[in-house]
Formats: sequence, structure tokens, C-alpha cells
Amino acid sequence: MILTIANLKGGVAKSSIAGSLAAMAAADGVSVVVVDAERLGASTSWGKLRHEDSREPAIDVVDVRGDVAKTIQGQATQYDLVIVDIGAGNAKAIASCAQISDLVLLPCGTTTEEFRKTQETFALMRDSSAPVFVLLTRVTPSTTRRETKETQELRAVFKEAGLKVFDAVIPRRKVWELTADGQAIHELDNEKATQEMRAVYEEILRRIDDLENA
Ligand SMILES: Nc1ncnc2c1ncn2[C@@H]1O[C@H](COP(=O)(O)OP(=O)(O)OP(=O)(O)O)[C@@H](O)[C@H]1O
Ligand SMILES: [Mg+2]
Repeated sequence: MILTIANLKGGVAKSSIAGSLAAMAAADGVSVVVVDAERLGASTSWGKLRHEDSREPAIDVVDVRGDVAKTIQGQATQYDLVIVDIGAGNAKAIASCAQISDLVLLPCGTTTEEFRKTQETFALMRDSSAPVFVLLTRVTPSTTRRETKETQELRAVFKEAGLKVFDAVIPRRKVWELTADGQAIHELDNEKATQEMRAVYEEILRRIDDLENA
């Protein structure tokens, strides 16, 4: 199973989500690897720091040598789950990742620029059969059981533009900054942030299940 986490826009939380998702899946017994499409990118240093601190479960992070799609397909023969972290570098590479993915997530925050770049990224994936979903990240946390107006409006705007949005969202929480040193969000003792990440993980499993049973 290949999951691509992509956006032409930088700083939308691609690498943060890739690492924490990988660690959550590994803790769940899934054999998982992160493919860092950015040369010596954040996922690579996250994996290195995690390894140096001997954090368990250990997560393999590999970089791309040569063709992105070939690297991913090679990893897919060795691991059950391949999580691809790919950013602005190369639009063509994003398109070819999408073509071989089972599911694509486009993390996106609340700014107009992010919305625009997310639409642009989506347009690169026109020819891919994989389902593509926007994953709203760094949104204002809700203090009630209902979603904030901001999140509801973002959903509406994407729907209007023809993009599907994940039910689960990742709110803005300072604790996420601490994951950069090689930890996963669920390892940081923050119940809300952990629950939010777990909802994303579970929705991924559910969407994959839906596809397999379709
Ligand atoms: N839910 C969140 N709440 C608050 N801050 C967050 C959240 N998720 C990520 N961040 C922070 O946002 C910044 C960008 O995150 P990250 O590096 O994961 O994004 P990216 O899309 O991989 O960026 P790049 O384009 O540089 O690869 C980091 O400082 C990270 O700690
Ligand atoms: Mg990154």
C-alpha cells in the first residue's frame, strides 16, 4: 500500500504527518517505510534523530536515488506501507507518485496561498486513479463538539472547487513542534493531539478498506 503525502506548498505539515503516521502504523504492527522525496529533507533527519535516540519502534526512512516512482515501487515490495513525503521540488515527480499510489493526502492549512497551491497540486494528479483527499492541518482547534466555522468554511470552499476533504483534521497545537526531534505525536503525552492523529490514521485504514471492497 502506497500513501503519498504531497503539496507544492511548503510548510503545510507533510513531514510532520509522515513521521507520526509511520510511527503510529509501526506501533500497530504494520511494516512501514517513509520515502523522503526531498534530498536530506525533514523526514530523513527525523528518522536519523529517532535512530540516534534508539526510539522504538524504529522507523526506516529512505531517500530517493534517481526515479521517484521506481524507488517507491522498490520499497513497496519490502514493506506493507510506503509513506511518501513529497514537496515543491518537482511537479512531474508528484504526478508520477500519485499514479502509483493507493491514496493521496494533500495537507493544507488555512491561508489562501495554501488553498491555491493545493488546487495546483490536485491538478497535477488529474490522470491518477488514486483517490485524492485534502487533509486540513493547523486549523484552529475547536473548543466544542462541533467543528469551528473556519474548518466548516474550508470544507465548503474545497467542495466547491471539486476536491474531497478528509473527515479528520489536524488542529494547530504547539506540541507538534516537538516531533521534529524524532518523536511521533502520540509519544508526546498530549491526549488531544494524539486522538486527532489517530482519527487520521483510522480514516486512512477505512478509506483503503472501502477501496478494496469496492
Ligand atoms: N498541527 C500542527 N500544529 C502546529 N504546528 C504544526 C502542526 N503540524 C506541523 N506544524 C509545524 O509546522 C512546520 C512545518 O511542518 P512540516 O515541516 O511538517 O511541513 P512540510 O510541509 O513538510 O514543510 P516543507 O515544505 O518544508 O517540507 C513545522 O515547524 C511543524 O512543527
Ligand atoms: Mg517536509
